[in-house]
Amino acid sequence: YKVTWDVEAAEKEGYAHFMIKEINEQPKGVSETLNRRLNKEGNIELDSIKITKEDLDKIDKVYIVACGTAYHAGLVGKYAIEKYAKIPVICDIASEFRYSDPFIDENTLFIAISQSGETLDTLAALREAKRKGARILSVVNVVGSSVARESHDVFYTWAGPEIAVASTKAYTTQLTAMYMIALHMAITKESMSKEKYDSIIEELKNMPEKIQKILDDYVIAQHLADTQFNNESVFFMGRGLDINAAYEGSLKLKEISYINSFAIAAGELKHGTIALIEDDTLVIALATQDRLYEKMLSNIKEVKARGAYVVAIAKEGNKEIEKSADTVIYIPDTMDELTPILSVVPQQLFSYYMAVARGCDVDKPRNLAKSVTVE
Ligand code: G6P
Repeated sequence: YKVTWDVEAAEKEGYAHFMIKEINEQPKGVSETLNRRLNKEGNIELDSIKITKEDLDKIDKVYIVACGTAYHAGLVGKYAIEKYAKIPVICDIASEFRYSDPFIDENTLFIAISQSGETLDTLAALREAKRKGARILSVVNVVGSSVARESHDVFYTWAGPEIAVASTKAYTTQLTAMYMIALHMAITKESMSKEKYDSIIEELKNMPEKIQKILDDYVIAQHLADTQFNNESVFFMGRGLDINAAYEGSLKLKEISYINSFAIAAGELKHGTIALIEDDTLVIALATQDRLYEKMLSNIKEVKARGAYVVAIAKEGNKEIEKSADTVIYIPDTMDELTPILSVVPQQLFSYYMAVARGCDVDKPRNLAKSVTVE
């Protein structure tokens, strides 16, 4: 009698890798993170966060601190809290925060974001902020982890266990959490109208379905990877929230496919990076922000004129961009401020298929660990 399966294969549920399984679990993760905290009236109820209106009125600044992918979620969180709750936010990398003599006192809200809840730099930053009197709120995936235990308030992302080293569903659930925290703060502080609050929640509810639509079209990213996997460098660019989603897309690519890659705010191109563009340089251009679209289009034209091969990520319905980009990947239409939840998905798929095409060990990339518990 021969055993023809193993535990790991069973856990992958038919997927070739944990990473692609987890990419596909995002509609569920986002839906759970959101719906478990919506009450009958459709309002956000955060049982584990006991921050009152009086507390919020005292808070004069927010620090968001994290590492890696969680830091990228923090950058979007900064945008949401500033826009919705009108409180200034500093978003910092945990290893930098610790040595930067940060401005923390009892009027500071400190938000730590961590999938594992065990990242040492994040934990040390949290302890430092706590020592200085800040209120500590953490956004964590692993229940009962160190970051969660040491916080005053905890928001658990309901991503479920994430096995692949490259983080995917943790990121989109962290984004969902940050939007919800920002909305909750805004409505408690009365810095946002109930109509606006309701409309954003309504749109958040549509996200699982919209993510699913991108996942169903995975062949677009797969095909692109099959034609581009020999590239040794890939640039990502965007403006506004798009640059934050591009940071994450670029990190995914370098983590698992070992391709030299970075993301740049498109307006900075002319201050240096454009010197690197030559014939067939691959540029992934995120152009989902209506407000910044014209500016972004001219950046696309600038790199095109120097020979780049441009893959644009744009909102469905934008036919015009096909005239300027070589390939367009569409995401379903949504509010500008929520696009990162969607625009990251084709980038995750692209990285995954690039790594597969290059024969890389997708779930366990060299030199990286899922959770970094040393300094
Ligand atoms: C490691 C992982 C990354 C992760 C980062 C922060 O470097 O490889 O995927 O984003 O740690 O991890 P955390 O568990 O704190 O979110």
